[in-house]
Amino acid sequence: MAKKLGSAGTNIVLAARTLEKLEQICEDIQGNGGSACAVSTDITKKDDCKNLVHRTVNNFGGIDMLILNAGISMWAPFEEIKDVSFFKDIMDINYMGSVHCVHAALPELKKSTGKVVAITTAQAIMGFPHHAGYSAAKHALHGFLETLDIELEGSVEFMNAYLGWIKGTNLRRNAFSADGEKIGGAHQSHNHHAIELERCTDSIIKAIQSGKKKIYIPGKLRLISFLNVFARKWLHKKMLNAVRNQNS
Ligand SMILES: NC(=O)c1ccc[n+]([C@@H]2O[C@H](COP(=O)([O-])OP(=O)(O)OC[C@H]3O[C@@H](n4cnc5c(N)ncnc54)[C@H](OP(=O)(O)O)[C@@H]3O)[C@@H](O)[C@H]2O)c1
Repeated sequence: MAKKLGSAGTNIVLAARTLEKLEQICEDIQGNGGSACAVSTDITKKDDCKNLVHRTVNNFGGIDMLILNAGISMWAPFEEIKDVSFFKDIMDINYMGSVHCVHAALPELKKSTGKVVAITTAQAIMGFPHHAGYSAAKHALHGFLETLDIELEGSVEFMNAYLGWIKGTNLRRNAFSADGEKIGGAHQSHNHHAIELERCTDSIIKAIQSGKKKIYIPGKLRLISFLNVFARKWLHKKMLNAVRNQNS
């Protein structure tokens, strides 16, 4: 997304903990005539997020859009987890990290009538087997952003991108397993429902540009809230089967 937006003329500030990865993306953007900079940031630290905003304003004069993308997942039935401490890490990154970023950027976003875009999951709007801590953290994020959307009365816009399984990222590799360690190379397979990263980023950018409040990728995920009320048992069975097929 950063490369596509940057090459199209958006000034980009990239934030994550691993600076080298970000610098590589900056070079690509600059090579295509765009402007980008990288700021090493751990979003679980309030001061890192304040520094990120400070550096952005110094470089580019303000903030039009904050994309909340950093996240970490899990893959374990709750009963098999011996120590639930990693639920706190999941909460700190997916939820508190976003709170820190939004809190630091809000004054600038209000000045520009800017936009907050959350790269989230269908698991933010319903539970999902083997992802209890992740689903809970994304639910928290959902409630936080929806509340701000009401409170701020349009002075900042909000958009949620609710994703299903996406191919070509490291989310699964970085996810916590039942023993609290990263899954790593195991369980890398995706079933036929998984969406290509290119298609996903194109759809998110298009939704941002057309001013949508939400986008579901794939589109059939928009039915989830409805099915969770009117075909609850069927939906839950289908999700259990989907997770079990991925495990096998
Ligand atoms: N891939 C999917 O199937 C899928 C599905 C639904 C939703 N999503 C959501 O999409 C978003 C992006 O995930 P992804 O699939 O691209 O996973 P990913 O490849 O694991 O990327 C996660 C990113 O978050 C950064 N990050 C992690 N902890 C951080 C921290 N404390 N501070 C700053 N940055 C941090 C990582 O960089 P560093 O490690 O260098 O900090 C990395 O760039 C997540 O919010 C995820 O929940 C993904």
